Amino acid sequence: MMQNNSIEKLILDTVDLPSLPPVASKVLQLMNRDGSSVSELEDLIAKDQSFSTRLLRVANSPYYGRGRAIDTISSAIIMIGFNTMKTLVVAASIKDMHSRFGLFEKKLWEHSLGVSIAASMIAKKTRLVHAEEAMVAGLLHDVGKTVLNNNLPDKYVLVVERVFEEGIPFISVETEMLGYNHCNVGGLIARKWKLPKGLEVVIEYHHSEEMPVLDDSSHEVMCNVVKVADALCLNLGIGFQLSKEIPDIDIQAIGLTKEGLDAIGAEVETALEEQMAELLAV
Ligand SMILES: [Fe+2]
Ligand SMILES: [Fe+2]
Repeated sequence: MMQNNSIEKLILDTVDLPSLPPVASKVLQLMNRDGSSVSELEDLIAKDQSFSTRLLRVANSPYYGRGRAIDTISSAIIMIGFNTMKTLVVAASIKDMHSRFGLFEKKLWEHSLGVSIAASMIAKKTRLVHAEEAMVAGLLHDVGKTVLNNNLPDKYVLVVERVFEEGIPFISVETEMLGYNHCNVGGLIARKWKLPKGLEVVIEYHHSEEMPVLDDSSHEVMCNVVKVADALCLNLGIGFQLSKEIPDIDIQAIGLTKEGLDAIGAEVETALEEQMAELLAV
């Protein structure tokens, strides 16, 4: 996308862009295709011992486990659900990207989970976009923050401190202190990972007021859904409670009412509370 070349160069000079675990990238490809089957997903997961073990643990957790022990990936997929299983693989991969997992990383992770649940609920309610895609978009939207935090830990801790002490949005503090921000970094990652265009747009433009010219207008709709989900979670203090960073939510852009959004907020909080232990452990 149209990114300032000098910003791009500055990022590439200072930041090592990670690669996406092969399982996750194959699962994302699977999501993009109609008619993918349970056995394809099963094959993908079963090839990776560490993912298999973790996903079986989730299937046997109190939230999903209903008595009988789940010991195969295919029964885990049936228990957890085909679509949820795919998003769990992406969620686990994003969590693995953190090179350490302290308080800030936990908050960031909680924020991504909250936004992903909120985005999928908004998608179901408005029927504007696919709920599963919205869920993945929510999980990935702030991936640039994770990469910055891993690459520049000493500098990023100062960014985080200013965000929390002064209540200024991440995007402004990052741009001021680093010369670029998590959306610039995220855009580069999305292209390196060859993510679907809709995800790339969300990752790169979820803080932009103006969108680039897009071939497919549904990408802008997806971006608006995630923007609203992001704002909702910040307002509710899911992940981060940032006193002054509470953005105005343009709910009209996606045809929601204030009451509708409040109801979604309550549902997100309950869903997160119920599933948090499983999702944190995935
Ligand atoms: Fe963001
Ligand atoms: Fe966010």
